[in-house]
Amino acid sequence: MCGIVGIISTRPVAPLIVDALKRLEYRGYDSAGVATLDGGKLGRRRAEGKLGNLEQRLSDEPLAGTIGIGHTRWATHGAPVEVNAHPHFSEEVAVVHNGIIENFRELRRELEAKGFTFSSQTDTEVIAHLVASHIKDGLAPQEAALAAIKLLRGAFALAVLFGGHDDLIVAARQGPPLAIGHGEDEMYLGSDAVALAPFTNKITYLEDGDFTVLTKTSYQILDLDGNKLERRQQISGGSAMLADKGNHRHFMLKEIYEQPEVIGHTLGHYLSFNNLQVNLPESGGLDFAKIDRINMTACGTAYYAGLTSKYWFEGLARLPVDIDIASEFRYREAPLSKDGLSLFISQSGETADTLAGLKYCEEQGQHLAAVVNVRESTIARASHSVFPTLAGPEIGVASTKAFTCQLSTLASLAVAAGVQRGHIDREREKQLVRDLSEAPRYANEVLHLEDTIAKLAHRLANKQHVLYLGRDTNFPLAMEGALKLKELSYIHAEGYAAGELKHGPIALVDENMPIVVIAPHDRIFEKTVSNMQEVAARGGQIILITDPKGAEAVGMDEAEIIVMPEMPEIITPIIYALPIQMLAYHTAVHMGTDVDQPRNLAKSVTVE
Ligand code: AGP
Repeated sequence: MCGIVGIISTRPVAPLIVDALKRLEYRGYDSAGVATLDGGKLGRRRAEGKLGNLEQRLSDEPLAGTIGIGHTRWATHGAPVEVNAHPHFSEEVAVVHNGIIENFRELRRELEAKGFTFSSQTDTEVIAHLVASHIKDGLAPQEAALAAIKLLRGAFALAVLFGGHDDLIVAARQGPPLAIGHGEDEMYLGSDAVALAPFTNKITYLEDGDFTVLTKTSYQILDLDGNKLERRQQISGGSAMLADKGNHRHFMLKEIYEQPEVIGHTLGHYLSFNNLQVNLPESGGLDFAKIDRINMTACGTAYYAGLTSKYWFEGLARLPVDIDIASEFRYREAPLSKDGLSLFISQSGETADTLAGLKYCEEQGQHLAAVVNVRESTIARASHSVFPTLAGPEIGVASTKAFTCQLSTLASLAVAAGVQRGHIDREREKQLVRDLSEAPRYANEVLHLEDTIAKLAHRLANKQHVLYLGRDTNFPLAMEGALKLKELSYIHAEGYAAGELKHGPIALVDENMPIVVIAPHDRIFEKTVSNMQEVAARGGQIILITDPKGAEAVGMDEAEIIVMPEMPEIITPIIYALPIQMLAYHTAVHMGTDVDQPRNLAKSVTVE
């Protein structure tokens, strides 16, 4: 997703802006740019590709100036080329924008009719000309920006710079996140607190509909009618971690290896390991005994975490769960139970489709709960009950530690629901908490399988298609494994319920089709093995992820099995996520793709 930065200072800002943009790289982008005011004159440098290209451009042609805006662009309208990179100019106006302006075509036609000429295919350029046109009509910069913003339909987080005004940045938020950073004789603007961490941890998050006017020593937040608004200034937590790769080759690998620790932190937030009970922190007065069903909404990996938890909530707490992919849920006007709980799962807490689902459920009067990794995020702030994952900032675009922390949180909530609804007695609660408390240890043990898994990854690299199979809670895990492989190595993969194979997909199977089977030796292992043998009989190359009992039962060639330790059933989805993450990671490394920032992808999808 695009990243926005703005700085008003007394020192040269171009290098500071680039530093801040580097901390937004994890969001995914394909071009970048900076604009500053020097002696009242607007200047701009832009470059295709990675920020290193922009830095080169700036070292060849330095940009002076103590006020500026910067942007990393994830292309929505127009190819990822320099002419479409932000900031976009119109006369004495410079704009950076994250989001989608849905009515940009009609606005563009009106502006062209007024004599404005466009140099890009972007929707953003419309904003620059719109502001310039209101200045031409005699409005002061701030009023011109406000008038322009009122004409926009769609999603935007934007910042505007005005030639001749070197102590003024105007910004607005409608959808994608935007935050003000408070410094000493400096003021900042950023898409999130991570970008501003090198300068300040004093943050004010803008809400939808907010319009802000910044100088280097002051800020005002207004609604679009010009009424003053108060927004809380807070100290940002997680952003303080200056994310770096440590001694790992990629952020993703570092985050895979952080899982034992962060799974432990997350479980420790919900479970008391000494008296073996669930201790849900007070959160919005949620009482599972009064809930008659849960509807869950999420995207991508977060959706697979939710789908896994459906088995837990229904099995342990006898609580029916409906779960939707957010982009489908937001338009289907689902009928919801008045005693229902609407649960949103999101690492970033900013995913547009998930947020739209939340707004629908809010209109329906639902109790809103969120499982999020960014506590200050929009989804968290809009929810009655917030259940944080304590994964720490996740920089790799492919979600790993956030996923296992989502599962850890959801497993804890399902046990709590079972206890509160009278389906889990004290002995069973103790056993389940004991089992969950083992997760960090098993996660750590499984990381030692990395070399074995790296060797198996060669069997997937350069293949055209891969199938992942699983049953019960291993079915969502099969889909997650397929997603990891797709998004990291660009190999087509599908996750399927193992029992579903013979209803069509088995037609795909031949000797060129690797099949990854996720099957701990549990109560349905035999069923999955028979599906596996149907595949083997047709020449499919199987990689089986199982435990010693499972390995013994199938007696396959050692080279095709990842043998996991035997472990309590409730933690298998959490721990079996690690080999599928490592399998996808090493396949991608073998393929030479950009592991931390795979092509076309963004870390936080804040547009629909
Ligand atoms: C998963 O590896 C992807 N990065 C993607 O599917 C992600 O899970 C999805 O976009 C949801 O993001 P969120 O958790 O921040 O809402």
